[in-house]
Amino acid sequence: MIKIMPIFGTRPEAIKMAPLVKRLQTERQIRTVTTVTAQHREMLDQVLNLFQLKPVYDLDIMEPAQTLTQITTVVLQRLEALITREKPDLVLVQGDTTTAFAASLAAFYHKIPVGHVEAGLRTDDKYAPFPEEMNRKLTGCIADLHFAPTLTAKKALRKEGVPEDRIMVTGNTVIDALLQTVKPTYTFAEPSLNHLDFLRRKIIIVTTHRRENFGKPMENIFQALTTIVKEFPDVEVVLPVHLNPQVRAAAHRILGGQERVHLIAPLAYGDFANLMARCYLVLTDSGGLQEEAPALGRPVLVLRETTERPEAVVAGTVKMVGTDGDRIFQAVATLLRNVEEYSRMANAVNPYGDGKAAERIVQAIRYFFKLTTQPGEEYGSEL
Ligand code: UD1
Ligand code: UDP
Repeated sequence: MIKIMPIFGTRPEAIKMAPLVKRLQTERQIRTVTTVTAQHREMLDQVLNLFQLKPVYDLDIMEPAQTLTQITTVVLQRLEALITREKPDLVLVQGDTTTAFAASLAAFYHKIPVGHVEAGLRTDDKYAPFPEEMNRKLTGCIADLHFAPTLTAKKALRKEGVPEDRIMVTGNTVIDALLQTVKPTYTFAEPSLNHLDFLRRKIIIVTTHRRENFGKPMENIFQALTTIVKEFPDVEVVLPVHLNPQVRAAAHRILGGQERVHLIAPLAYGDFANLMARCYLVLTDSGGLQEEAPALGRPVLVLRETTERPEAVVAGTVKMVGTDGDRIFQAVATLLRNVEEYSRMANAVNPYGDGKAAERIVQAIRYFFKLTTQPGEEYGSEL
């Protein structure tokens, strides 16, 4: 029996780990000891509830306005006892959060192999996104198995010297989660969403939470939104406000009480994914949305200067607009006024996966532990 310990802590990690954990739990030769750090609390619990994931261990570390040092040290300390007791054969981490980095470091200190889901995404700018670029790189340095979502990510890992036989192109598990969640006949759990007029109004979804956007850049984003709703009477903005106190304060100060701007609590993934499937446009600095919205044929304007997800930019569905207020306004105005430009961007492209990423990862793990002689098929998309 192989013991695998998936460790995750935030909303996006949970969404992207859920299909994999579910699939691992069907394996008879594998025991899955799901562990959450709870770097996020409410936003993590929303995902655990939706996918009915019941962690064996919950480190419950979240503190209001926690610092990066706090997260890193508390995760390291609390995992020490757990890893010593459980002695897993493999620790699985996801993405670029401080939980992913600290958990991989904790595993390394105990000489436990690490599998990295969503490996190899790079901007090659140490401070953008901060601290995620470095979290992902450091996790990659420690990892023994690298599950690259795309060929571009695999190439980045090869360039850094990761051996070919330790990388598998799998697609992104977020597409597995999305395909399991979006339904044409979906009814929203959040009642206000059922009252949105998707036919006569253009619904713009906005999310922002990146640390490098705190302060002036985030204020610019919110100011641009006030201009957009004033200029375009058929636009409604839906902004599920991230629970980070810095984001909440700025959003409510600048956008509170604005007509046709709906500041709402973070949505459960079912509501959010189905809202994305029905919206006109997405404005975001999130990583995951750059993968999901293209799959749903929704144009994305990215509120950042760089991206570690270039594939959908190349495909034309995602555009980088940064955080200058005028630039944001112009980019949105173009997509609202120019039907041809909008149609060019609103193509469903899916460079990030085909819904079978979890299956490929499980096959690669089975091969690593010699439970099968078949290395498994890679995800073949290249853009
Ligand atoms: C974290 C990740 C980021 C990821 C994002 C996804 C790091 C350093 N950052 O950023 O990579 O993109 O999650 O959302 O790993 N809070 C709550 N309840 C929650 C979640 C957060 O109250 O459920 C508040 C708390 O005050 C917390 C603060 O938000 O201290 C910040 O949370 P933290 O995980 O440190 O940073 P995020 O900005 O959420
Ligand atoms: N999401 C959600 N509810 C929301 C906003 C986002 O479920 O109110 C989902 C979204 O579909 C995506 C993930 O959360 O899968 C993105 O998380 P976030 O923006 O917090 O982090 P990032 O992707 O930037 O790391």
